[in-house]
Amino acid sequence: MWRNSLTLLGLLALLAIGCEQKGAGTPPSTSSGATTAKSGGTAPADTHAATPATSAAAPITQGAAEGGDVVLFGEVGSLTGPEASFGISTRNGIELAINQANAAGGIKGKKIAVRVYDDQSKPEEAANAATRLVNQDRVKVLLGEVASSNSLAMAPKAQQARVPMISPSSTNPKVTEVGTYIFRVCFIDPFQGFVMAKFAHDNLKITRAAVLKDQKSDYSLGLTEFFTRKFTEMGGKIATTEAYAKGDSDFRAQLTAIKAQKPEAIYVPGYYSDVGIIARQARELGIPKKIPLLGGDGWQSYKLFELGGSAIEGSYFSDHYSPDNPSPVVQKFLAEYKAAYGSVPDSLAGLGYDAARVAIAAMQRAPDLSGPAVRDAIAQTKDFPGVTGTITLDENRNAVKPAVVLEVGDGKMKYITTTSP
Ligand code: PHE
Repeated sequence: MWRNSLTLLGLLALLAIGCEQKGAGTPPSTSSGATTAKSGGTAPADTHAATPATSAAAPITQGAAEGGDVVLFGEVGSLTGPEASFGISTRNGIELAINQANAAGGIKGKKIAVRVYDDQSKPEEAANAATRLVNQDRVKVLLGEVASSNSLAMAPKAQQARVPMISPSSTNPKVTEVGTYIFRVCFIDPFQGFVMAKFAHDNLKITRAAVLKDQKSDYSLGLTEFFTRKFTEMGGKIATTEAYAKGDSDFRAQLTAIKAQKPEAIYVPGYYSDVGIIARQARELGIPKKIPLLGGDGWQSYKLFELGGSAIEGSYFSDHYSPDNPSPVVQKFLAEYKAAYGSVPDSLAGLGYDAARVAIAAMQRAPDLSGPAVRDAIAQTKDFPGVTGTITLDENRNAVKPAVVLEVGDGKMKYITTTSP
């Protein structure tokens, strides 16, 4: 029965890996992270169908071993599916923060453990996982998701159960509007849309742009609206707006329509998995490389180089952080992350790390670990030294932070500029 209900719960691909038995206090460099990162990173894009039912019985546990007197965090992320690199980077960042906090004594004398559910990049699965974490696992805080549509599916569950939720990186304004228990440690898309409109207009001197949006993504629809508004206010013209739907692989009809309008740039506020293919098809159709693609944080993934190849080089996107930032806070994180996971952390890893640290600091300050007490403590977050910038949460539970513009180079995201709100 137990197993049946788990299977019915939508094949949450939960893998029992990285359970840190000696657990608490293990230094980051020897943490379970290196192993879990690998096992997640090499998982095929769509493992859900093959996931044996037995693995669903045990979600991934990181940080301290569960069972003892631990403070349990919940995490929902896309460890598989088209947005897998978002979930994997975020998980590493969260794990690093928790291992470090445990080494420093944990929260109110207790170690932290985190239960991680894979939502396979699907909103329905994100909602199921959130329900389980708040109602059955009874976590003290919920971390996730990355994709705004997935966070929007989770947020009502957290709000209803009065369990504080912090999205590391969902930028659509509607996410925190769900209620007073929903927070984020990143900026929101009205600002992000402005940043790229300004860069296109002021730096690239573009006056005529086209837009290619994902009509199934709240994130993409929001950015399309905000970019269009700002770019038009600055005197720019949107030549045409074309649409695709997440999961499409042929964008030629839309790109042909765009080419006919002769734009000077194409704004593509989608996720890396689509953007790479769009770039290739654009160049194949004869849209020259002097017409850059422009985008938002959804481009962030090392997979973008693989998918887009030289077709995406010379294109620009807005993002939360650059590892090139010489600030000691960033450089320390970079060194610690590299030691644990063997790669340079992307912005998702940085935001995951910041979200977990904001939650931990709030729980250390809170008078007790009840939902309302933790919620109030998170709401008071002010001048927190994040690796993605200084975090102060405003009255709408959003962080107000600068954005960076990066250029896609040959295997590297090149820092170009920073824009403040
Ligand atoms: N901001 C994106 C969203 O809301 C998610 C994202 C954040 C993707 C950061 C990549 C990097 O959907």
